[in-house]
Amino acid sequence: MIRTLEEAAIIAGNIIRDGFRKQFSIEFKTNKMNLVTEIDKKAESAIINYVQKNFPSHGIIAEESGSTGAKSKYVWVIDPLDGTTNFAHGLPIFSVSVGLMKSGKTICGVIYDVMRDAMYSAEVGSGAFMNGEKIKVNENDDLEEGVIVTGFPYNIRENPDNAIEKFNRFLMNARAVRRLGSAAIDFCYVAEGVFDGFWEVHLNPWDVCAGKLIVEEAGGIVTNFKNEKTDIFSSQMLATNGKVHNKMLEILNMD
Ligand code: IPD
Ligand code: CA
Ligand code: CA
Repeated sequence: MIRTLEEAAIIAGNIIRDGFRKQFSIEFKTNKMNLVTEIDKKAESAIINYVQKNFPSHGIIAEESGSTGAKSKYVWVIDPLDGTTNFAHGLPIFSVSVGLMKSGKTICGVIYDVMRDAMYSAEVGSGAFMNGEKIKVNENDDLEEGVIVTGFPYNIRENPDNAIEKFNRFLMNARAVRRLGSAAIDFCYVAEGVFDGFWEVHLNPWDVCAGKLIVEEAGGIVTNFKNEKTDIFSSQMLATNGKVHNKMLEILNMD
């Protein structure tokens, strides 16, 4: 199935690359921070057409068009363009994220970092890869020597959830804190050992499905802020190399 997911992600990636820094229409979703472009929609339709043509019995959970057959045995979880704000402003950090669930469990996932032409993939029990090369989380156990990453939800003005306090605390305890603007890429950089950890609240299933599996298959850990196992519907996400997990939990739970 991995090859099939990769094929779907490449079809969407080509649409996104062709549209980058060109003219496209933009609409607001819930507010002026939360955008959807014509390219998000085109990329999503292309993936959905691909699934419906090749796997007509499979269900779909997709960001822009919602769910169909979400109770099917196999369900594709699709973020056609993760990093829409970056894309809309011409910043080349965005990805396509596609996960496949079987009976409620993610069995494989791919994240395609479009402008780096980097295809991250994982299948449950078989490890994680970037363009075919095995990837692993890093071994650092000292947060003071680590670089970590986060993101902020579009409803932050209504639900600040101590986001700035947490960000400040991590600034004081890590070598550096980044905010890239694509949760899927954040997961990949943890899986690849670039970042030591990634935390965020209010993510959606399509932001998480492929990335969580990729981190776990690269030897990392993904929990909520209480150190409990999460599923893709969980609202809190902490993904780390495992070695800085407790320290990050401690900092997240200071309030
Ligand atoms: C967003 C990005 C961003 C994260 C937001 C997501 P979108 O997804 O992943 O990094 O901070 O929470 O909603 O809207 O670009 O697909
Ligand atoms: Ca997203
Ligand atoms: Ca998206």
